[in-house]
Amino acid sequence: MSTIESVLNETRIFPPSSEFARQANIAGIQGYQALCAEAEQDYQGFWAKRANELILWHKPFTQVLDDSAAPFYKWFADGKLNVSYNCLDRHLETQADKVAIIFESDEGEVQRVTYRELHQRVCQLANALRSHDIKKGDRVVIYMPMRIEAVVAMQACARIGAIHSVVFGGFSAKSLHERIHDAGAVAVITADEQVRGGKHNPLKATVDEAMRMNDTTSVQLIVVYRRTGGEIPFDAVRDVWWHDITQDASAECEPEWVDAEHPLFTLYTSGSTGKPKGVQHSSAGYLLGAKVSMQWIFDYKLTDIFWCTADVGWITGHSYVTYGPLAMGATQVIFEGIPTYPHAGRFWEIIQKHKVTTFYTAPTAIRSLIKLGGDLPAQYDLSSLRLLGSVGEPINPEAWMWFYEKVGRSRCPIVDTWWQTETGCHMIAPAPGAVALKPGSCTFPLPGIFAAIVDEAGHDVENGKGGFLVIKKPFPSQIRTLWGDPERFKKAYFPEDIGHGQYYLAGDSAYRDKDGYFWIMGRIDDVLNVSGHRLGTMEIESALVAHPLVAEAAVVGKPHEIKGEAVIAFVVLKGKYPHGEEVVQITDTLRDWVAKEIGPIAKPEEIRFGENLPKTRSGKIMRRLLRTLAKGEEITQDISTLENPAILEQLKYPSK
Ligand code: PRX
Repeated sequence: MSTIESVLNETRIFPPSSEFARQANIAGIQGYQALCAEAEQDYQGFWAKRANELILWHKPFTQVLDDSAAPFYKWFADGKLNVSYNCLDRHLETQADKVAIIFESDEGEVQRVTYRELHQRVCQLANALRSHDIKKGDRVVIYMPMRIEAVVAMQACARIGAIHSVVFGGFSAKSLHERIHDAGAVAVITADEQVRGGKHNPLKATVDEAMRMNDTTSVQLIVVYRRTGGEIPFDAVRDVWWHDITQDASAECEPEWVDAEHPLFTLYTSGSTGKPKGVQHSSAGYLLGAKVSMQWIFDYKLTDIFWCTADVGWITGHSYVTYGPLAMGATQVIFEGIPTYPHAGRFWEIIQKHKVTTFYTAPTAIRSLIKLGGDLPAQYDLSSLRLLGSVGEPINPEAWMWFYEKVGRSRCPIVDTWWQTETGCHMIAPAPGAVALKPGSCTFPLPGIFAAIVDEAGHDVENGKGGFLVIKKPFPSQIRTLWGDPERFKKAYFPEDIGHGQYYLAGDSAYRDKDGYFWIMGRIDDVLNVSGHRLGTMEIESALVAHPLVAEAAVVGKPHEIKGEAVIAFVVLKGKYPHGEEVVQITDTLRDWVAKEIGPIAKPEEIRFGENLPKTRSGKIMRRLLRTLAKGEEITQDISTLENPAILEQLKYPSK
């Protein structure tokens, strides 16, 4: 690690305009430094003050941080609250008629719901769930299209203290089953079908398929929202229609007051080994992180029209669709479809139509839009925009410049936000009225976040040197544990060898430049970042090996123009080494297989077949060689430990 050198040499710098700085929630670099100094001086007092200001407590807390069972930290532990109350009820007196959600469907139909209406809908579903015996602590899996109802489902769970676990609608029956099973979910909330880009995707049928995979399933109830009216299987005992159970339900629902540490949700994410990890978040600490980052990083103002394009199936959709914006009382846009349907200007059209002020998206979307129509934004009136944001992977400086000039018309700061499913909210990101931007850098940590770059021994490395990205002090919004696996949690995030189990290890490598700016370099484990989503190489390998034709498989990432990283699989078949037409057929079969086993995002871009894989004498697959081959580069590494050097020739080119 110590040899990692900076690969970028970006010298452009964009200080905030005086106009932006003047109105900003954190005004000027002095404002940012003052907050950092406050956190430095009295760390617990700093977070306690924000928790008192930003959260409505049913019972105030007296204790701030409890680190007696570290790394199982507790924040504000003796306080009680309800997250849904903090997102909805608190606005009823002051702004009940403000639009909470402007929803645009795939077909372009627009619906607006006010805070009053959203509160009613959430209460009705919460009451309906209660009357079906769903109670505090029960796990509810949500497998929904990106619609108002997805937010209602999550908020309804929060209201009654049920722990939601949202599964992205693109995941397969097998992935869904695995998550339902691991969580021991008692209910699933889904829709008949999902509609994206004009295509119908069967959600309910996929849920049924997942149910059939394990007849000892814990699921007692399946709530189905009618999106398309398409034909679906319906079990008269287990399945209920959303509209049936909510129509006569009361529009008032007393929230369940829960402890600050009560789990608000779990969300599964890929790790380098084994099955996906159920990242467990708290109620109060998580809410505080989502809210404070809305203020500091999104510079939230009551007049904003906020649009985060992430699906609620990912953490970004949790923190910056369902919780952060509603907790602030914001008006936000939710879009069901995809950026390119029915035309490549759809995003720009939505910004123009709904007068979006804050636009938060992913580098992969930016790159695909550049490719499809780099000049398209010029055809739309984007003058409502005042702030842009990026998340999910490093944004390459060219894409940054395009976003800045073509979309933001060189007026809008870009907040490049580094964070993770596990951190709950932004960790390293510019306060846009304070910090001068460098394209490709996520700049500096949020006040109260003690991020650093360390070597294998846990010592700080000097600026310009690469190392492990860690967070040295606990913070309110951090992961509490992995569902059902506290040992794995400790090992993965607070390893003994780096920082003696005291530091949160993010799993990314990074460096700081001479000005102290943070630059993220990539993952340190075998995790790929495809289109801003984490995929474990192990998961894909296991899926491939589960196919009857496959004897062995190794998966690596290769840089990809749009996706960031693409999945490349090296496969040894049980039968003969394939040729010609067979290669095409087996490739198609295996790609479809992976899509079915995990989901279309995990499909290998390319599969290369070999009679073996490059291995050490002890039988370990030499992945670094495969990475070089995947990139089409010459092997310059030491191959003296390689058992079978001849195999490299065979794997060098796509199979024919
Ligand atoms: O490698 C980092 C990358 O995405 C990982 C977290 O993925 P996930 O938990 O799926 O959450 C994505 C949305 C928060 C990180 O470990 N990553 C995320 N944001 C950035 C990033 N890499 C560079 N720059 C970013 N802004």
